[in-house]
Amino acid sequence: MKLRIDILTLFPQMFTGVFSESIIKKAVDRNLIELHTHNIRDYSLDKHKRVDDYPFGGGAGMVMMVEPIARCIEQLKSERKYDVVIFMAPDGKTFTQSKANQLSLYQNIMILCGHYKGVDERVRELFITEEISIGDYVLSGGEIAAMAVVDAIARIIPGVLNDESSALTDSYQNGLLSPPVYTRPSDYQGYTVPDVLLSGHEKNISDWRFEQQLERTKMRRPDLLDLY
Ligand code: ADE
Repeated sequence: MKLRIDILTLFPQMFTGVFSESIIKKAVDRNLIELHTHNIRDYSLDKHKRVDDYPFGGGAGMVMMVEPIARCIEQLKSERKYDVVIFMAPDGKTFTQSKANQLSLYQNIMILCGHYKGVDERVRELFITEEISIGDYVLSGGEIAAMAVVDAIARIIPGVLNDESSALTDSYQNGLLSPPVYTRPSDYQGYTVPDVLLSGHEKNISDWRFEQQLERTKMRRPDLLDLY
């Protein structure tokens, strides 16, 4: 079963580099995910292809108009059924690993990227089923946030990473931060790798890693331990 993600944006070219490199490219090449961008401007019926207008009531900034977005969404919805229609927004619910896990199980996902001062509220009311923020800061548009969401989803689809267990040992997958990792040389200018990792003793290594996870989480993100 392949996951399809449709992204509605005014800047489809922003996605081309990110989607044609590294893990996302691998997921696409292996036919595990299908990514489509749609230029909202193509759905404007205006002779100048306008997609934004001044806000009613006045104020700074432009607002993305409901009609071109509605036309694009309706077109896609007439072609297939969507599990979710996501709007990337700084006032959405904060994105987490568990949300990424949940989204990775879906079949068809639509993601709308906003720009300017926002989108006409009726878009949110009529079409959006979920609003996601990637953090408490304001980006100039939803595109970079959508890329983060797509990346987090793509890398956990089984078969995307070579070592399938590696996504499972990520920070956050068991509610804890990842332990430190090392590779050769074992001695870098006197800075050495912990002996236990060179011992070949599997049980001691996994105990050490778990202790490190707890320690790191306690030091860096004590808020995560409140969940236990
Ligand atoms: N659009 C602008 N800022 C954003 C954020 N922090 N998360 C998601 N979408 C956004």
